[in-house]
Amino acid sequence: MSDFKIIDGKAVAASVLDEVRAETAELKARGVTPGLAVVLVGEDPASKVYVGAKDRTCRDLGLYSRKITLPTETTQEELLAVVRELNADPLIHGILVQSPPPKHINEEEIIRAIDPRKDVDGFHPQNVAKLALEDPSGFVPCTPAGSMRLLASAGVQTSGAEAVVIGRSMIVGKPMALLLMAKGSDATVTVAHSRSKDLPAICRRADIVIAAVGRPEMVKADWVKPGAVVIDVGINRVEDATAKNGYRLTGDVAYDEVAPKCAAITPVPGGVGPMTIAMLMKNTLQAARQLTA
Ligand code: GUN
Repeated sequence: MSDFKIIDGKAVAASVLDEVRAETAELKARGVTPGLAVVLVGEDPASKVYVGAKDRTCRDLGLYSRKITLPTETTQEELLAVVRELNADPLIHGILVQSPPPKHINEEEIIRAIDPRKDVDGFHPQNVAKLALEDPSGFVPCTPAGSMRLLASAGVQTSGAEAVVIGRSMIVGKPMALLLMAKGSDATVTVAHSRSKDLPAICRRADIVIAAVGRPEMVKADWVKPGAVVIDVGINRVEDATAKNGYRLTGDVAYDEVAPKCAAITPVPGGVGPMTIAMLMKNTLQAARQLTA
């Protein structure tokens, strides 16, 4: 097979953002401007790029955006105080603390301190529980929500399909598995990870592969069943002396060799990445609606 479909994340994200723009205008007409606070602690270069993009997208769509950048030395108590202030701020409906924070920060405690009604990342235990319970009042983590939307946009039949999720993170792998197996999606789900025995063999069973391990180009052509659909969640910086900034971005999938075997595949960049921000905007609207109902 070589007539594979490239799933265009930028185009699908643009159509989600059009929805958000229209819904934002409706909310504003009711006197509610959805507000998102994004908190960045430290100097991680990739995080700076993501936080900047989130802030810009908010403004572009007519949401209220507050970007809070804190120095690397910020203490746990100082960060908790910022979160508590945002919890109490009526102009703010969504709160996101960019991950990963500096090493001295206890991220778990920070996540638990966020008002679950404003937890647009869907990381708070109450939202994790709601996802497992299939309660739509909870927030679904943005990257897996965006990946599901990409599957739908490409017309991929998930019902009854064998899906293999590679990676078990709280941000992507676990919520992705829950979404795929949920009622209405109805996939048969295997979650593989770094300790799985014979990862290539597990992966070869899949009609749908979700690669979310953070290892550049790990998934090779002989891991993928002909005609499978591949969603590449990885965004890895690899050194490349010929590239503009000295690095290039690559996914968890060896795209050039895998793509010709697939029915459909997401590129990196331009696949899952743009969807994450689009779904964050959606979650912020959901928060604004639920908090002002
Ligand atoms: N870092 C990488 N992805 C994410 C995300 O979805 N949310 C937050 N807060 N940090 C991230």
